[in-house]
Amino acid sequence: MKFFIDSADINEIKEGIELGLVDGVTTNPSLISKVNKDFDTIVTEILEAVDGPVSLEVIGSEHTQMIAEAQNLVKLGGNVVVKVPMTEEGLKAVRVLSKEGIRANVTLIFSPLQALLAAKAGAAFISPFIGRLDDIAYVGMELIEKIQHILSNYDYTSEVIVASIRNPLHVLDAALIGADIVTVPLKVIKQLARHPLTDVGIKKFLQDWEKVPGSKNF
Ligand code: G3P
Repeated sequence: MKFFIDSADINEIKEGIELGLVDGVTTNPSLISKVNKDFDTIVTEILEAVDGPVSLEVIGSEHTQMIAEAQNLVKLGGNVVVKVPMTEEGLKAVRVLSKEGIRANVTLIFSPLQALLAAKAGAAFISPFIGRLDDIAYVGMELIEKIQHILSNYDYTSEVIVASIRNPLHVLDAALIGADIVTVPLKVIKQLARHPLTDVGIKKFLQDWEKVPGSKNF
């Protein structure tokens, strides 16, 4: 499973890279707004640090605006993926962009049929938001299962990015389903590595090591 980091904060991204858990980056306007720097600086720093796909979102609502924005965004780096919202205009944009060889990530997917339409439009990536579904008492992970099933029925090549991940169980369930990619905030990435019994075990080993004759010489 590929791990993307869901962040526009270069310090978080660099921390994720050190852990070997940044196969790509996803951003959105909300994440960008949390970083107190101008957009160009944010993007330049991310693209310098990351080799994998970096999703940058368009703002326009008409497909012509989205296409123009996308064409400018991809000039910033060969690994830029253009994030396009799941609207009719977004689908029109994705169709054109995919023909131009520009990779699109269709975002704000909340139903299996939206995912099907995005795949048919030629999206390289599809981003279902599972945490936001859980928030309104729908089981977000069921959406991932249905999307994976539909895509495999027709051999679509779009990769599913499980997005809006809020806790380690989301990552576990995505892995059990066999999702292609999870995009995970740094806070959750760090939670994945931790287990209280690991901490207890390390403490005990160190205490016992102290009892070994000559251990202080190491
Ligand atoms: O990648 C999408 C993600 O940023 C949305 O997460 O927590 O705002 O629902 P959240």
